[in-house]
Amino acid sequence: MNRRDALEVLRGSVAELEPGHVWLAGAGPGDPGLVTLDALAGLAQADVVVHDALVDPRVLALAGPHAQLEFSGKRGGKPSAAQEDISKRLVDLAKQGKRVLRLKGGDPCVFGRGAEEAMALAMAGVPFRLIPGVTAGLGALAAAAIPATVRGINRAIIFAAGHGAAGSAVADSEWEALARTAQPIVIYMAMHNLARIVDALRRGGLQPATPVAVIAAATTATERILVSTLKRVVAEVRAQGLEPPAIIAVGEIVQFRAKLLDAVAAAGSAVR
Ligand SMILES: C[S@@+](CC[C@H](N)C(=O)[O-])C[C@H]1O[C@@H](n2cnc3c(N)ncnc32)[C@H](O)[C@@H]1O
Repeated sequence: MNRRDALEVLRGSVAELEPGHVWLAGAGPGDPGLVTLDALAGLAQADVVVHDALVDPRVLALAGPHAQLEFSGKRGGKPSAAQEDISKRLVDLAKQGKRVLRLKGGDPCVFGRGAEEAMALAMAGVPFRLIPGVTAGLGALAAAAIPATVRGINRAIIFAAGHGAAGSAVADSEWEALARTAQPIVIYMAMHNLARIVDALRRGGLQPATPVAVIAAATTATERILVSTLKRVVAEVRAQGLEPPAIIAVGEIVQFRAKLLDAVAAAGSAVR
């Protein structure tokens, strides 16, 4: 069975990526098992896959043999393509009649500028689809055996950006307000400002013993998980040399991991 037949069986019918169209899709956090069938259909059909730095090489390897892979994205702290240039490139490729898959790590619309690219395509009259992906904030947690919600522990969950382009990161006074909600906070792009964020959360009333998990390169071959507390996390991240990309989860949900792993060990089985 070829790739297309397999997709048809799995999904019922494969959506057609037509010439001159763009699919803005999420690739998930890394593990190819977390790629949606629609994103996989896009990979199989695209003439050009325009991807960002966080798309795992194992996912890119799923592109069809004729597909041209084009890197276009932001690399934290390093010179990278301007957003307007990326949007213009997508429009140009579509106007040349290419089938374009714009593939972003995680979900394209979670701290991923998917909205800006969709708007640019809409304004240029280019037909497009938005295909959701497993965002790192959820994928990293579940893969680390930390449930995003636990009955009796939290009624909400907050996704926040610790760093980023002007206007997209949470300001110090806002961290204090988020801390006062007493709901877990899942922080993207937090590694560069971690000490400042921790201080602000403490000012907002979170206790030094509040559990924190740092999940770096989640669901990739180099995944690392650190379970710590607000008091210790900055020093432990430094001591262990943890680097971006990482998701930082703050709150009582983190403690569920130990309970779950203990239960799994007691039953003699495994999480993954
Ligand atoms: C520009 S944001 C993109 C988020 C992406 N659109 C998503 O939905 O996951 C980049 C940040 O996402 C997080 N991230 C993405 N992939 C990750 C992974 N595999 N493991 C841990 N964090 C990841 C990190 O916080 C990273 O700095």
